[in-house]
Amino acid sequence: MTEPLTRGLFITLEGGEGAGKSTQARLLDDALARRGRKVLRTREPGGAPGAEQLREFLLKGDHGLSLRAEVLLHFAARLDHIERTIRPALDAGQVVICDRFFDSTLAYQGYGLAHGDPALLEFIARLIDLTGLMPNLTLLLAVPRTLARTRMQQRGGGSDRYERLDEAFHLRVADGFRRIADQAPGRIATIDAGGDVEQVQQALLTEIDRRLPA
Ligand code: TMP
Repeated sequence: MTEPLTRGLFITLEGGEGAGKSTQARLLDDALARRGRKVLRTREPGGAPGAEQLREFLLKGDHGLSLRAEVLLHFAARLDHIERTIRPALDAGQVVICDRFFDSTLAYQGYGLAHGDPALLEFIARLIDLTGLMPNLTLLLAVPRTLARTRMQQRGGGSDRYERLDEAFHLRVADGFRRIADQAPGRIATIDAGGDVEQVQQALLTEIDRRLPA
């Protein structure tokens, strides 16, 4: 069962490649710090030494794992991240801003790789329950695929094994995120992230002010 938070606030950022999550997470960190909040900014897969090693394994090259094994590895990294990094920060009353969390497993493995297979979605749902931490707010950054692709091309650099998958996969991921958001309107706010960086940041802060206690 997911435990209620007693202190701190847990905010996750989600979206496909090229949605601008990392930039927005950084700006959000600055904005909340200016308001006097102590902020921890982190990411998945990763966010703790062991989880970062699993990130290397999951994102570099071709690991050849079966899909359920891959899902379990994402959750092993997540549990390490929760226990070593996220929980202690929340217990200390901090705001934790996390670039990706379990919605990415639902979208990428559940909808993207498994084409929305109900058995895999149920498998992931049970793991979500077992890991026992629910974000207070999830900000889903939505951009049209054409814009996301342009941003990815401009960014350049090495692409991970999910980024390299074909267009149909990325469209399934985007559709998956939409479905996930439709099923959890109380937790997930979808933000139009197609505008300029400052506009998007303002939209994120507006949602935070509207949905979370001061
Ligand atoms: P990023 O740090 O650039 O967002 O890359 C992380 C990649 O890992 C991205 O392609 C999404 C993918 N991913 C999954 O497939 N499942 C997950 O559970 C998580 C957290 C990330």
